[in-house]
Amino acid sequence: MGMGRGVVMGLAVGCAVATCVVAAVLVGRRVKTKRKWGKVVRAMKDFEEGCLTPIGRLRQVVDAMAVEMHAGLASDGGSKLKMLLTYVDSLPDGNENGIFYGLDLGSTDFRVSRVHLGGGTIILEHEIECHSIPQHLSTCTTKDLFDFIAMTLKQFVEKEGSESESIPNKNRKLGFTFSFPLRQTSISSGTLLKWTKGFAIEDTVDKDVSECLEEAMTRTGLHMQVAALMNDTVGTLALCHYYDEDTVAAVIIGTGTNACYVERTDAIIKSQGLFTNSGGMVINLEWGSFWSSHLPRTSYDVALDEDSPSRNDQGFEKMVSSMYLGDIVRRVIRAMAEDSDLFGGGDAPNLSEPFILRMPLIVAMHEDDSADLAEVARILMETFKVFKVPLKTRRLVVRLCDVVTRRAARLVAAGIVGIMKKVGRDGSSGISGGRAKNIKTKRTVIAIEGDLYSEYTMFREYLNEAVTDILGDDIAENIILKEFDHRSSGIGSALLAAASHSSHQAYDI
Ligand code: BGC
Repeated sequence: MGMGRGVVMGLAVGCAVATCVVAAVLVGRRVKTKRKWGKVVRAMKDFEEGCLTPIGRLRQVVDAMAVEMHAGLASDGGSKLKMLLTYVDSLPDGNENGIFYGLDLGSTDFRVSRVHLGGGTIILEHEIECHSIPQHLSTCTTKDLFDFIAMTLKQFVEKEGSESESIPNKNRKLGFTFSFPLRQTSISSGTLLKWTKGFAIEDTVDKDVSECLEEAMTRTGLHMQVAALMNDTVGTLALCHYYDEDTVAAVIIGTGTNACYVERTDAIIKSQGLFTNSGGMVINLEWGSFWSSHLPRTSYDVALDEDSPSRNDQGFEKMVSSMYLGDIVRRVIRAMAEDSDLFGGGDAPNLSEPFILRMPLIVAMHEDDSADLAEVARILMETFKVFKVPLKTRRLVVRLCDVVTRRAARLVAAGIVGIMKKVGRDGSSGISGGRAKNIKTKRTVIAIEGDLYSEYTMFREYLNEAVTDILGDDIAENIILKEFDHRSSGIGSALLAAASHSSHQAYDI
């Protein structure tokens, strides 16, 4: 029996209607998706604008840094910059002799080292061991942390060769790099002001950390003397100065960030009557806590700060150091994923996990130069446990990495120029004056250490470029940024132990 004409017609109309409905749904979805993606694009634009660091703004940050340095030198608490005295008034000059030890505690890794100095900038032997600090020790008790460190140091000393074995225990001199804010009372002692970088051992605050270490060494049966206690920036400055006496400052840009520089004692107004043979002293800025309204801060920075245990503190560090950059990127991705489907419709369960996007992942994604950004996709899939990362999402994430990295690098550059301004090496006529023409600057060396600078090409290039942009080619030519690796502060601490050793006449600054 054949179908009637009416039935056929009816079916055809039905099919057409169904097709139209499907098409309408598809178009509707596409419009919705487009609208949602439009929101992401706008959010990206807003974020980019919020992170902008045009040269005018960088100059304002330069000035703010120099002004805050003055304020911090004028009185304790006069600025967010602590401008801490280090009691280092002479730096190694290459003539140091003998065997010295270094201990470097500043993040979840710590290093023990032995350096045999031969005079004439010759390092005859340098042995270094790197150990991880078990996670629980960064939040336990002072005794547990220092016992662990002392025991590791003891094991290191016991392994040494015949030459150093002949040194009686009590004559072994140790340089102790302790990379947290310290109020020093001498070159070899100082109390902890606060922990940073995720460490939180309450009973260490206000304690003399050299004493804590010496007591722990005594408990383990190791009798070594802390000859010099210093911040990692100071250790790096010491090493750079050992090779190059034009060194005036050092900067660390790693898990945390900080800088130190050589200041004239008469400029340290808060310590009236301070006298050093050299007329100078190294000052630890603790610039991680620098703050200025000129810093380009976004709502994501505010949220990161609010969620951190150190609210309203370490503001600069939270915008520039490797501990935080990945988390800024993660926060932006999370906000965008709430507005649009970034991951092909699936959930991203790990997107809410703080600090999951660590720095090496940011570097790898930013440096992925493949056409389909395969590495970016792999990292996002593994980290956030997603099944699909469309190409446009990959591109977006790379752009985010770029924006956050560029802002950080340029702000650090402004900080560096701020120090140059304070010491009169920026080609301007000082803190109150504007840019002066034809001022000749001396060759000025700044030591730089930290994974952001040494292992992240884009960061390094952005930083170098910004220093030149702010200073201009002529002045920038004389400002030399010398790169050091993570072992530098450890060697530097041994060098400072040597330089502070009474028998040696070190180079006065
Ligand atoms: C600390 C500084 C240290 C810097 C780099 C900061 O968090 O406060 O003392 O120099 O990290 O390690």
